[in-house]
Amino acid sequence: MRTRIAAALALLLAACSNGRSGGTAPAEPGLAFPEGFLFGAATSAEQTEGGNTNNNWYQFTRLPEYAALHAGPSGVADDSYNRFPEDVALAAAMGLNAYRFSIEWSRVMPSRRTFSDRALAHYGAVIDAARAAGMEPWVTLHHFSEPIWLQDLRDPDCARGASDDNLCGWPNPDAPAAFAEFCGRVGAAYGDRVDRWATFNEPNVYISNGYLAGGFPPARLGILDLAGEVIPVARGLFEGHARCYDALKAADTVDADGDGAAAEVGWTMSAEYAFPADPASAAHVRARERVDYIGQGLYLAAVTGGTLDADIDGAPDETHPDWADRLDWLGVQYYAASAAVPLPFPPPLDATACSDTIAAVLGDLGSLLLDAVGCPPAPVLDFPIPGYTGPAPRHYGGVHQPTGLRKLLNRLSAEYPGRPLYVTENGFGVREADAARGPLRRARSIVRTLEQVHKTLEDGVDLRGYFHWSLLDNYEWLAGFDIRFGLYGVDYATLARSPTEASRVYGEIASARALPDRLIEEYGSGDGPLSEP
Ligand code: BGC
Repeated sequence: MRTRIAAALALLLAACSNGRSGGTAPAEPGLAFPEGFLFGAATSAEQTEGGNTNNNWYQFTRLPEYAALHAGPSGVADDSYNRFPEDVALAAAMGLNAYRFSIEWSRVMPSRRTFSDRALAHYGAVIDAARAAGMEPWVTLHHFSEPIWLQDLRDPDCARGASDDNLCGWPNPDAPAAFAEFCGRVGAAYGDRVDRWATFNEPNVYISNGYLAGGFPPARLGILDLAGEVIPVARGLFEGHARCYDALKAADTVDADGDGAAAEVGWTMSAEYAFPADPASAAHVRARERVDYIGQGLYLAAVTGGTLDADIDGAPDETHPDWADRLDWLGVQYYAASAAVPLPFPPPLDATACSDTIAAVLGDLGSLLLDAVGCPPAPVLDFPIPGYTGPAPRHYGGVHQPTGLRKLLNRLSAEYPGRPLYVTENGFGVREADAARGPLRRARSIVRTLEQVHKTLEDGVDLRGYFHWSLLDNYEWLAGFDIRFGLYGVDYATLARSPTEASRVYGEIASARALPDRLIEEYGSGDGPLSEP
């Protein structure tokens, strides 16, 4: 109850100060965050807007051949396309100073050669609303969804050949060119109000889930045919990133926030904290390095060093000087930690995180395989895996571990020095069946994670902000509406939004720009259990 009263007061103060509470010292003992540190919340277009009928997820969730892979379409989602003023106000009510959302490419470019003034006006209004509420708009330009005309799933093998109606995906040089046109157009439209742009959200997840062995559209199984299926997509995507970067730099020349830089262009990467299953084993230490390299390193080498490692063996095979030095900041999206082990196969199957889909896909056989390659047992936590409700996991993979974020950020800062880091996503998903227990666990996760964020700042890491995923419960891709991640709950029957314990706790911290010791006492510290007392 103490917390609720304090949170209510904090929210009231935040509302009075329009969300800008500056870098003042905490009013009570606790951990103060530096001036300018961003506290934000994140969403994406396909997951919240509703009514997206011109993108790959719309097609994917309607074509019968993909029906077994997903839990259904996004439909009206949260109807945020229409309710964005309310959603922006909910973010601002927590005292946030940044709001991350994505612009739906298929709305702005309904066809290869046209732009929609209506859609451009809409996103301009979202940006204006965020700024008016005291929040810096952080704009993502590709958050998994992309126009049907980029790759039409009705002709997945491009049997009818490429045309403006179906570019047949990223390998077609016209795909990165089209993306760059989109980037240039929005850069010109919003450059006076937006400084922070992300080209791709989690290009590593887009590729692994869509082309290596996952269920995202176009659901290709290319892990055994890197050269034919995967690398041409990666090449096109890196080219798209680089050309989008250049287009944004050219189009957005206004320094909207007065910090001396106009367009600051980065991307966001899904990143678990991987650790060697057996730290004393050189093979396991090497496996950890390989897991990070396969998951993130080779992507970052492309856009920082301008190289492409086409056989994923660790050595660059192609140089692309016009991809190099095109990442002004790196967004880190952290949900879990996993042990890494070596596998007796050629790259990219020479190492794996124990959280891999192996066990999920292969069932008991997968579990036996993970046993055989040395995956350690899961720690005894009451709620180890975000969104997990099955039988107790057997292996240390995909485990909720706030302390892993600090180690991951320290590692990335050492490996990619001179590049500011932002936690652009971190969150805690709970399945619908367990929804009532979500907000308290999410509140505990937030307090414990922000404690680690503060320690990371004390370590000297150039970390400049934290965005919670997500502002609202929303469409969780293959899981449909079955996993809730929202600071605010959404009643999908009425679309009513409601505050939760998590929005109150996060709002109290963001408004005060400090994590009071009182909250750590109440919600816990470190990696321990998240259950109710
Ligand atoms: C994605 C989000 C997703 C979240 C939770 C991230 O990988 O960027 O779109 O909802 O994780 O699964």
